[in-house]
Amino acid sequence: MTLPNTPAILVTGGAGFIGSHTVVSLIEAGFRPVIVDDFSNSSPNVIQRLEQITGKAIAYYTLDCLDLQGLKTVFAQETISGVIHFAAHKAVGESVQQPLKYYRNNLDSLLNVLSLMQEYQVQDLVFSSSATVYGQPDNLPVDEQAPLKPAESPYGFTKQVGEQILRDACKVSALRSVLLRYFNPIGAHPSGLIGELPLGPPNNLVPYIIQTAAGLRERLTVFGNDYATPDGTCIRDYIHVVDLAQAHVQALKHLQKQTEASYCEAFNIGTGKGNSVLEVIQTFIQETNQGLPYTIGPRRAGDVTAVYASVQKAEKQLDWHAERSLAQALVDAWRWQCSLK
Ligand code: WQD
Repeated sequence: MTLPNTPAILVTGGAGFIGSHTVVSLIEAGFRPVIVDDFSNSSPNVIQRLEQITGKAIAYYTLDCLDLQGLKTVFAQETISGVIHFAAHKAVGESVQQPLKYYRNNLDSLLNVLSLMQEYQVQDLVFSSSATVYGQPDNLPVDEQAPLKPAESPYGFTKQVGEQILRDACKVSALRSVLLRYFNPIGAHPSGLIGELPLGPPNNLVPYIIQTAAGLRERLTVFGNDYATPDGTCIRDYIHVVDLAQAHVQALKHLQKQTEASYCEAFNIGTGKGNSVLEVIQTFIQETNQGLPYTIGPRRAGDVTAVYASVQKAEKQLDWHAERSLAQALVDAWRWQCSLK
């Protein structure tokens, strides 16, 4: 139960895919989330869905984080004790075509949030980073000590720069930050009320699978089967979005326990297990009994062969681990897709 004057957790991008699931987890853990979202890549009906799932009224502001004055009114009106910053553009291919849009949006939004946190003396920030910062790691599973590789896209570079901005800012201010490096988030809330809503043809594997099974796409193309992996297709660490959401709650609790002002640490958030594209396809067919037309196509530019997480640091320090299986994530994603019909 949340008390009426419980300090708020500001969730930028809180109506988006990972943000909305995190809002549910925050409420379940007794926090009071306040959403800031411009609904540029999400639907306003997510707010009602969140209220339906949680049975709580959800506070939200329709606002672009680039609007510094607008964001300032939120900090002035709410007593904010921490921030989870999701708001960002995230389409890798689009970022190659429109790099300035990505640099301006993703970096200025973060800078606006940080300047207001400083002004209103808010210490704790959880930042959405990505496993993309590792590129193709030299060793697997990849741990947080692994060197960051040159970014393959402006999107990926905004995550590397975002991390560096936070490391620099934490050194010289009261700011404390956890950088969560997400592996491949998939799935949906088991209620089928919230999930991922890609605009146009999906770029990511699981949204493409479920739209193909639903008849919205003719066939899935597997991007290459000549990689140096057991079945020739790329390997990723697919994590259920509800597990990922819970990692944010644990990160926030972890920050609140810190005594040093300059704390800044990165954590891998994955399952620790790699699955190939063909394994994902087979698991989907087996679990849902749906037909899934697919064909093998050429490699996609920029894809790494294999990446999966070492999750020991998150297990030990955040007291968190993924509990849900690939099969469960695919069934939940399929339930969500069916609810859209
Ligand atoms: C997974 C695998 C594809 C689509 C990307 C971003 C990353 C993060 C998550 C966040 C790969 C293959 C895919 C298809 C396929 N972004 N595939 N056919 O590339 O690991 O990570 O999303 O916001 O930064 O780079 O995820 O789901 O696109 O691909 O064969 O139609 O599925 O080649 O091996 P990726 P993905």
